[in-house]
Amino acid sequence: MANTQGTTGLVGWIDERFPLTKMMREHLTEYYAPKNFNFWYYFGSLALLVLVNQILTGIWLTMNYKPSATEAFASVEYIMRDVDWGWLLRYMHSTGASAFFIVVYLHMFRALIYGSYKKPRELVWIFGMLLFLCLMAEAFMGYLLPWGQMSYWGAQVIINLFSAIPVVGPDLSVWIRGDFVVSDATLNRFFSLHVIAVPLVLLALVVAHIIALHEVGSNNPDGVEIKKVKGPDGKPLDGIPFHPYYTVKDLVGVMAFLIFFAAVIFFMPEMGGYFLEHPNFDPADPLKTPPHIAPVWYFTPFYAILRAVPSFAGTQVWGVLAMGGAIVLLFFLPWLDRSPVKSIRHRGFAFKLVLAAFVIAFLILGYLGALPTTPERTTLAQVCSVVYFAFFFLLPILPAIEKTKPVPERVTEK
Ligand code: HEM
Repeated sequence: MANTQGTTGLVGWIDERFPLTKMMREHLTEYYAPKNFNFWYYFGSLALLVLVNQILTGIWLTMNYKPSATEAFASVEYIMRDVDWGWLLRYMHSTGASAFFIVVYLHMFRALIYGSYKKPRELVWIFGMLLFLCLMAEAFMGYLLPWGQMSYWGAQVIINLFSAIPVVGPDLSVWIRGDFVVSDATLNRFFSLHVIAVPLVLLALVVAHIIALHEVGSNNPDGVEIKKVKGPDGKPLDGIPFHPYYTVKDLVGVMAFLIFFAAVIFFMPEMGGYFLEHPNFDPADPLKTPPHIAPVWYFTPFYAILRAVPSFAGTQVWGVLAMGGAIVLLFFLPWLDRSPVKSIRHRGFAFKLVLAAFVIAFLILGYLGALPTTPERTTLAQVCSVVYFAFFFLLPILPAIEKTKPVPERVTEK
């Protein structure tokens, strides 16, 4: 006999003890997503795919990696040369790290153009920003593990930044390193945090991110709330079941992504020194500072902001504050953007201009952050930093000058 879910057999047996069918309905077959998702909506599912890739390849790498200052570098070489398919696992993981940031930056850009962070999706955005912070911590700690020159000196430079914080700074940086310089103790704790602590938080945040999203429903390129217009059956007229429609559509995105991903892994895993930096092919040497220390590309926009701020009275604290502020301000976007209109399709020229300037400044900062400084580059980085911060100060006052278009009742997709 069928139960309350209408299921029988093994599934029926499970349903009487665990809400399997109920959850599948709520989150897949009866989760109504707007029917007009476009290219920009691929990146959420791709972020999930890359997360799974990182966890699986990470587990297998850990089987042969040695988290010790004397053995780490050699163990990575061993994985690359002697472990069966070890080179593939490592390149999938190192390329996956960069792919994660590409996908997540595009995912965040989508939220910017369609106003997806606005009411009622503020918490979706906050969980997303926490994911972004965790992702940065995860990537930073992972980068120390191969114990190459850039691993070592990159960590040294970044952890030293904490000593710029007044009063507690110097003690804080010793506490993070577990030593007065980056050492075996640092490598051990970064390993522990990278393989278990941060991934657990990441997974929990992804669950929270998606539960929050499914509570309020997805936004869409028109910025129309599809829940407002429902049919007699109570289902949104502009919604389609996530499964099978978007599971199948997302598979197209997955295929396209995998082609690019495989091309990088097999033909250019170092990506000209952007995905795997050249000095990292030399083992860490605490006595030999590399001539140019730069973080991996996904950190360079924020690093460029840090370097753009001159140090006053020998302290870098203002640069550190500017770099931190550049990230913290993003958390407040849902409250800074006061426009009544969500999607860029209905926003005025002023917003498009300010957003374009913000994105271009961010890209230029990313480029500059990877290069050694010169006076001209520093000036350009300062201009771009001002443009970056101006975005957040202009957003709240934009509605006063911006001419928005009327938002349609229904999504415009035919
Ligand atoms: C591990 C990282 C992340 C994963 C796995 C992830 C996953 C997802 C998924 C599966 C969706 C639904 C599909 C879609 O709308 O594309 C989504 C939506 C969303 N995510 Fe993320 N996300 C991540 C990081 C972020 C970050 C860093 C932000 C921004 C700070 C963010 C902001 C959003 C927003 C605002 C939505 C709703 C978009 C809309 O309805 O238009 N996410 N995310």
